[in-house]
Amino acid sequence: MQVIVFASSKGGVGKTTSALTLSSVLTHHGAQTTLIDADPNAPLAVWAKRFPDSVPQGLTVKTAFRTDVADIIDSAADPYVIVDLEGSRNEEVSVAIGRADLVLIPMKGNRLDADEAVNVIKVIRKQESIFRRAIPFRVFLSQTSPVIVDRGMRDICKQMRENGIPMLKTGMVERAAFKAPFALGGSIYDLNEREAKNPLAAITNAETFAQEIRDILIGTNVRAEVTTHA
Ligand SMILES: Nc1ncnc2c1ncn2[C@@H]1O[C@H](COP(=O)(O)OP(=O)(O)O)[C@@H](O)[C@H]1O
Ligand SMILES: [Mg+2]
Repeated sequence: MQVIVFASSKGGVGKTTSALTLSSVLTHHGAQTTLIDADPNAPLAVWAKRFPDSVPQGLTVKTAFRTDVADIIDSAADPYVIVDLEGSRNEEVSVAIGRADLVLIPMKGNRLDADEAVNVIKVIRKQESIFRRAIPFRVFLSQTSPVIVDRGMRDICKQMRENGIPMLKTGMVERAAFKAPFALGGSIYDLNEREAKNPLAAITNAETFAQEIRDILIGTNVRAEVTTHA
C-alpha cells in the first residue's frame, strides 16, 4: 500500500483538485484507490455523494474526522491511498504526514505560497524525527498558466532548488477540465469538449503527473529495499 498525502498550510492551493485528479488517473489505469477526505468541509465526500453513479470504478471515497485519520488510512486495503487534508496545521495533518509514503505540497508559484510550503516541510521534518524515518515529499506547481511561465515563478523554483527542496517536474496546469468533475460528477475522463475546453490536454497533464509520482514511489521502494539488505 502506498499512502500519498496532499498537504498545505493554507487552503485554495489545489490539494483537493489534484487529489481527485490523481485518483482518477490511477483508477482509470486499473489501480484500486482509496481517497480519504480528511477536510471537515468534506469536498470529496460531497462530490461522491452528489454523483454516486459516476464515481470512477475502483475508487473508494472515505471520510476521516479529526481523530481517526490514522485508523482510516490503516484500514484501507487498496494499493493506493490518497489523503486530502484540510489547509491548516493541526494534529490530523501531522498524523497523516506521519503515515505518508509521499507528501505532495501544491504551490501556486508566488512567494507567499513558497513560504507556506516551507511550513509544511517543517511538519514533515518533525514527523521524521518522531517516527525515525525519512518521509519523502515533493512540492509541485499548481494552477499554473498553460502558456506563460513568468519570471517570478522561475525565480521561486530556482530558490527551492538552491535550498534543496525537491519539486515535481510536472505541475498541475490551470484548466477548466480539472474543476469540471466537481460540478458534473465523474472524472476528467468523462468530459467532452462542450463541458470543458480541451479535456485531452488535462488528461495528458494528469497522466504525466501521475507517472512521475509512480516513478518516485517505485524509486523510494527500491532504496528502502537496498537499505534493508545492506
Ligand atoms: N489545476 C486547476 N485548474 C483549474 N482550477 C483549479 C485547479 N486546481 C485548483 N483549482 C481551483 O482552485 C480552487 C482551490 O482548489 P482546491 O483544490 O479546492 O484547493 P485546496 O484543496 O488546496 O483548498 C478551486 O476553486 C478549484 O476549482
Ligand atoms: Mg481542499
